[in-house]
Amino acid sequence: MRTMRLVVLVSGNGTNLQAILDAVRSGELNARLAVVISNKQDAYGLERARTAGVPAVVKEKTRGQERAVYDAELAHLVGSYQPDWVVLAGWMRILSMPFISRFPNRIINLHPALPGAFPGVDAIERAFQAYQQGKISHTGVMVHLVPDEGVDSGPLLNQCMVPIFQDDTLETLQQKIHACEHVVLVETLKKLAAQMEDDDAKSFVISI
Ligand code: GAR
Repeated sequence: MRTMRLVVLVSGNGTNLQAILDAVRSGELNARLAVVISNKQDAYGLERARTAGVPAVVKEKTRGQERAVYDAELAHLVGSYQPDWVVLAGWMRILSMPFISRFPNRIINLHPALPGAFPGVDAIERAFQAYQQGKISHTGVMVHLVPDEGVDSGPLLNQCMVPIFQDDTLETLQQKIHACEHVVLVETLKKLAAQMEDDDAKSFVISI
């Protein structure tokens, strides 16, 4: 049984990366993290990777460097680890086609909102504001493929609804969303791993 190879891209704290690391360590998720890459030198996610014995690499955009050039270099770096999946787990840079076209249907993004709602930064804060204005009664979390430069949009792989209650504060909503993300992301990766094993089994049957 082949083990799914992941490259995880992070920009910050890395609690979702931690959820993946924990699921791999416990055997819940049959995957190997080939590397964790960050565009921020001080991202705590890098520390989490090192603690788990996973290579941690910083790839910062240099001053004046064009986005397309940075993204092409990043693609080259990520490609050198031969990932089955590239996981954007709190990666806070929009990726352009020089990166995306290198990994067709192989990039997944986690976002703390439901499809079509609150793309971009501060999604949880904006959802909470919308709740206070009586515009929504729930928000959520989604995992989707990244086929193009669209911000937090693309074919949906998984989602989870998070209700907002009257006694919720921004902090409690953030806690609920993050708890939900950790589950949804790992569940999605488990499905992708199972699919990969299935595909491998089929190609084995065909080849004998
Ligand atoms: C997560 O909430 C993730 O969904 C969000 O960044 C956070 C990273 O947390 N991503 C986006 O907003 C992408 N547009 P973490 O570093 O603790 O995993």
